[in-house]
Amino acid sequence: MSALHQKKIPDSAIVPASDYVIFGGTGDLSLRKIVPALFWRWLDRQLSDEFRIYLSARNVPSLDDFTNALRPFCEEALASQDDAEVEFENFLSIINLVPVNILNGEGAEALAASLKERFSPERPCIFYLAVAPSLFGASCQLIQSVGLSEPQCRLVVEKPLGSDGTSARQINDELLAVFSEEQIYRIDHYLGKETVQNLMALRFANVLFENQWTNQNIDHVQITVAEDLGVGQRAAYYDKFGALRDMVQNHLLQLLCLVAMEPPAKFQANQVRDEKLRVLRALRQTKPEDVQLGQYRDYLEELGAPSNTETYAALRCYIDNWRWAGVPFYIRTGKKLTMRASEIIITFKQSPHDIFDLADDTRTPNRLVIRLQPQEGLRLQLTSKAPGPGGMRLLPSELNLSFGDTFDQRLPDAYERLLMDTARGNQTLFMRLDEVLAAWDFVDPILKHAADTQPAIYHTSSMGPADSLFANTESDWITPVEEGAS
Ligand code: BG6
Repeated sequence: MSALHQKKIPDSAIVPASDYVIFGGTGDLSLRKIVPALFWRWLDRQLSDEFRIYLSARNVPSLDDFTNALRPFCEEALASQDDAEVEFENFLSIINLVPVNILNGEGAEALAASLKERFSPERPCIFYLAVAPSLFGASCQLIQSVGLSEPQCRLVVEKPLGSDGTSARQINDELLAVFSEEQIYRIDHYLGKETVQNLMALRFANVLFENQWTNQNIDHVQITVAEDLGVGQRAAYYDKFGALRDMVQNHLLQLLCLVAMEPPAKFQANQVRDEKLRVLRALRQTKPEDVQLGQYRDYLEELGAPSNTETYAALRCYIDNWRWAGVPFYIRTGKKLTMRASEIIITFKQSPHDIFDLADDTRTPNRLVIRLQPQEGLRLQLTSKAPGPGGMRLLPSELNLSFGDTFDQRLPDAYERLLMDTARGNQTLFMRLDEVLAAWDFVDPILKHAADTQPAIYHTSSMGPADSLFANTESDWITPVEEGAS
């Protein structure tokens, strides 16, 4: 046992010793996200020496070659503590590289034999399919054929889970032919972000905001997920998806759900997911004027072909229930925008009666700005008296809670939390099938409209095309504060 692992592991952080099998284990997702996340968890002592990681691929490299490929993605972790290099070696000792051909089954028996040495109902055996969705069905069949679909076995998959409702149903049918819904963990990595989870804490662990959280007090909600990078190497993949499928159907709708859902009776997987599902089912179908699509100017050049694929999408959504009747939710996302920043902005209504009656009134409405990334934090925009003489003059002011300054602690990457939850058997932050399908039910008609629509071209490093969604309102998009700006 390494010195690190002799230290006491906090009870709340413990995950059971498990076997973690990653199909596509030497591919991009595994190298960039999954294995580095496991290494961070190893450094934080959440993984014990009893944990085993199996990286499977059709052709596996030697451990040395694999280590060289992995190392650049672990640099931050390696620099985080003095003994990290030693621990990296210890971590590598729980990794096994195993050749498995998903299509003809070669290698699966050997993998199964190794797993079965420790196979028991108490020991989770997790299969993460970091392969193309076209291989999901064959992977599940193979896992079943070698006797590895027992109740303690779990399946982790990630989008794209289809490109519309019909294909999503087909893919999920393939998974459900082998695993039950309770064994399936569908990742939306936004749900693993610390600040996204904090949204639930903010709403349901504080009375302050929840009392205000209705159409009586809220004027509108804006959700922005802006990216400064373009599609780059992913152009061929991205062109088949576009912003609506790549970001809106999953990440943005999940954020909208967390803002709009009713408080569940308990913070428990199915109760949280039931409430999110109710929001998705209450979404009113958008009209063409509620949708704005754009494409950044260099996109066609990067793709090298003509295309109508949207790299920017903005929607005005309404949730037809008592709490939200009449409150527009504006959601937008785009590539090659001014900055990388994700924010949720709740704009409150003006006070019902104005006692000040000032000639020079510069008041802005109260706003709660939930900054998801980067510079995670909360800002509450208020109005204050301008200090000093001169009578009553009002100025905007801000209560600012920066998570970085307040908690002085590294925020783990989304994958770290999600991977640990699969080992713990906690599905709260994973999407249930009915949620995925309800999100497609909402997005499918928008995709039909998009197929016949020419996206508006926007300049790189702008905030997207000229807006049409706020026409005839007193509001406008609020641009997130850029990193470094105060
Ligand atoms: C992915 C999308 O799901 O999320 C990418 O496929 C996008 O296109 C990415 O860039 C954004 O994630 P994050 O965590 O960088 O905000």
